Amino acid sequence: MSQVKLTLALSKGRIFEETLPLLRAAGIEVLEDPEKSRKLILPTNRPDVQVVLVRASDVPTYVQYGGADLGVCGKDTLIEHEAEWGGAGSVGLYQPLDLKIAKCRMSVAVRADFDYASAVRQGARLKVATKYVAIAREFFASKGVHVDLIKLYGSMELAPLTGMADAIVDLVSTGNTLKANHLVEVEPIMDISSRLVVNPTALKVKRELLRPILDAFARATA
Ligand code: PRP
Repeated sequence: MSQVKLTLALSKGRIFEETLPLLRAAGIEVLEDPEKSRKLILPTNRPDVQVVLVRASDVPTYVQYGGADLGVCGKDTLIEHEAEWGGAGSVGLYQPLDLKIAKCRMSVAVRADFDYASAVRQGARLKVATKYVAIAREFFASKGVHVDLIKLYGSMELAPLTGMADAIVDLVSTGNTLKANHLVEVEPIMDISSRLVVNPTALKVKRELLRPILDAFARATA
């Protein structure tokens, strides 16, 4: 019989790497490296705790449906997930902590030769390609700028380069990806960091298991 009682959903890459020190602060060591293994369920030093690896945009879904008890995902991912479900607060995920990890920003970027300021000033209708349609829609609506949104799933930088869009809304960290593709950041939209999300039922039913972990995370991010 499996002894696992608590499942944590993480995505590979920066979120996984930057969650490890927080887990360590809670006395939890992940026993396999996702970059070296193809396993999707990773054991920890605690027989009652396991980590599942899912796509970043699937973390809220796993936690919402109880496939995982808790998870770590970007504020961007959470906003887009909630928008699909009818807006902030509609999903009922408990969001106790900003973990202040995987920090970056959501920004508007265009080709270096595109005059964004004039286009916006003149009331032009902008074609905007993005994976983050809810964030982009809300941002341009609040500015009173008309946009046609084109939903993409990755490599957004290509959209202005191929003439498919005037602008993109994407995450910027170092700015290297934009630079390498001759794009410039013209307007920041919001700062992004990763949040802890917890299944509300798990919070009640597994309180004794969850509470020390939430407390350790809170102390480690204070
Ligand atoms: C993000 C984003 C950019 C890149 C920006 O992609 O979409 O492509 O990081 O980082 P930089 O400013 O440091 O160059 P990510 O690697 O998260 O993967 P994705 O393409 O799957 O979104």
